[in-house]
Amino acid sequence: MSLKKYITRLSFIALFLVGLLSLSTGNLAFSQASEIPTEEEAITNGKTLFESNCTVCHAVHEKVVGPALINVYERRELPWLISFIKNSQKVIQGGDEYAVNLYNEYGKAVMPSFDYFSDDEIKNILAYVKNESENPPVEESAVAAGDGSGVAGGSGGGIPSEYLNLIIIGFVVVLVLILVVLVLIISVLKKFINQKEDLDPNEKEYANQKFEIGKLVKSNGFLFFVIFIFTAVVAKTVIDGLYTVGVQQGYQPTQPIAFSHEIHAGQFNIECQYCHTGVMISKSANIPSANICMNCHTVIKTESKEIAKIYEAIDYNPETAEYGTNVKSIEWVRVHNLPDLAYFNHSQHVNVAGLECQTCHGPIEEMAVVKQWSTLTMGWCINCHRETNVNSKGNDYYDDLIKAHDGEPLKVVDIGGLECSKCHY
Ligand code: HEC
Ligand code: HEC
Ligand code: HEC
Ligand code: HEC
Ligand code: HEC
Ligand code: HEC
Repeated sequence: MSLKKYITRLSFIALFLVGLLSLSTGNLAFSQASEIPTEEEAITNGKTLFESNCTVCHAVHEKVVGPALINVYERRELPWLISFIKNSQKVIQGGDEYAVNLYNEYGKAVMPSFDYFSDDEIKNILAYVKNESENPPVEESAVAAGDGSGVAGGSGGGIPSEYLNLIIIGFVVVLVLILVVLVLIISVLKKFINQKEDLDPNEKEYANQKFEIGKLVKSNGFLFFVIFIFTAVVAKTVIDGLYTVGVQQGYQPTQPIAFSHEIHAGQFNIECQYCHTGVMISKSANIPSANICMNCHTVIKTESKEIAKIYEAIDYNPETAEYGTNVKSIEWVRVHNLPDLAYFNHSQHVNVAGLECQTCHGPIEEMAVVKQWSTLTMGWCINCHRETNVNSKGNDYYDDLIKAHDGEPLKVVDIGGLECSKCHY
């Protein structure tokens, strides 16, 4: 403990000296960059970035695919870290001795480049790493647990299906028990009656008559019962069918590669936008190209049969790490599909309205295989437009509109969300 402190202090002094040195040589940029923020806000921001971009390969306290990042800000200087995280291959190819050694030590595994991060974002990530390095993991798990409950809050209400099943099973068990008790009572009664000696033969026959299915089936009551059930079932199926013509709710096709959102978006917390790059900016959410998979799968699970299918599609040879020219596209089966007559735009709903993906797609991060969660009927769109307030956060135009409506929150219907032409070409 005290040794660690001592080392930390020493390295701070060293850092300070290096800082002074660089100042004196006029390198102002370095001294400005050499601060890792300590504010709560920076740390939480860094945590989010770290969890959605780095946890697949890094943990703070243990080695995963890449090295444990504990105290990395002491091993390397900030400018080095920033350029390495932005583009590690550039640093390695530039011949930096430390980087080349590390690269070789990790079996030439390529860390993807994160050049779209700003310096501040990287500093926030490091702020998180620093905070985690200095705090024992016990606290870490408490924080993680708190987070989990927040994320899980998105699913809908009602009785969860596993409870429904339990209730039904309970009923069946009770019914079977009642049946057993009745049979027992009957046999006891039979015995009792047969012991009586003053029965005439007629009564005896009646008491001992066998249960005959044939008789029951022929009875009018039974016939009526069967016809009633049959008509009810047919009617219900027809009505349901009419309501769901063309509705594909629950559609869950098998995909060419066993890609699991449960692993990627759930367990490893990779952000939806990392793969579905269009959601914030365009009509379509996009299905990721194999290049995005290769950011990680050049190093992760390279021996898997399923990953081999990615390699085959883009003609990549994992042994030589070379790409060929025989490139095919992976033929994912489309799950959600509106008819051509309807217009739906993701950025309008995700970016402008601020809706969560899960509102429409359900708990995707728990699905090993994606299924269509909502009905996607016109009634479904319209209902939500009737009930949902527009998101006026940071939108002056809506603020003015709301003021004009006496401060009442606006529903989507109030901005024309039920006009045919908004959704139909
Ligand atoms: C696909 C796996 C992968 C991902 C994702 C990844 N890294 Fe790495 N990282 C590595 C590997 C492997 C190394 C070891 C060097 C090498 O092989 O290039 C490494 C090395 C590092 C190092 C140097 C560690 C040291 O001990 O000096 C830092 C810092 C680092 N990564 C930060 C990050 C950050 C921050 C992120 C997220 C923004 C990230 N990495 C995402 C695989 C990954
Ligand atoms: C690592 C990449 C990756 C991440 C992260 C990811 N997805 Fe996907 N997503 C895919 C791929 C590949 C498919 C196509 C294969 C399939 O349907 O499983 C897909 C399919 C889907 C589909 C069905 C598309 C269709 O055919 O109609 C939805 C909806 C979806 N993703 C939503 C999400 C949401 C919501 C998240 C975040 C919680 C997310 N995805 C995170 C890669 C990803
Ligand atoms: C940000 C990193 C990352 C990206 C991008 C990514 N994956 Fe993964 N993938 C992982 C991790 C981590 C695992 C779990 C590895 C494990 O189980 O040890 C995994 C596991 C898998 C598996 C299961 C392999 C097996 O045999 O268990 C498949 C299949 C897969 N990914 C397909 C894909 C596809 C297809 C894409 C592109 C659409 C993709 N992945 C993109 C990180 C990633
Ligand atoms: C308001 C409801 C709604 C929200 C919110 C929403 N989606 Fe969708 N999504 C849809 C509908 C409707 C379709 C079918 C679109 C079509 O067929 O044109 C769809 C289709 C998709 C597809 C298939 C490819 C495509 O673009 O057609 C993916 C992938 C997808 N969504 C991912 C996401 C992700 C990721 C998010 C969150 C960032 C999200 N969606 C948020 C309603 C929604
Ligand atoms: C979960 C709720 C929800 C669902 C489901 C939904 N929407 Fe929306 N939609 C919104 C919200 C909120 C807005 C307002 C966005 C804004 O502020 O511009 C909106 C806006 C729109 C707009 C722009 C309206 C305008 O006046 O500018 C169109 C078009 C639209 N939605 C089409 C659809 C279609 C088509 C569907 C069904 C496939 C659908 N929406 C399903 C919530 C929803
Ligand atoms: C919020 C978006 C939205 C609005 C507003 C809207 N529709 Fe629709 N409409 C849809 C969607 C989505 C479908 C496709 C539903 C499906 O596939 O089940 C559809 C389907 C239809 C169909 C059925 C077409 C077919 O092939 O079955 C008709 C007809 C139609 N709309 C007419 C209208 C009229 C008329 C209005 C104006 C009063 C209107 N819609 C307003 C979203 C909308």
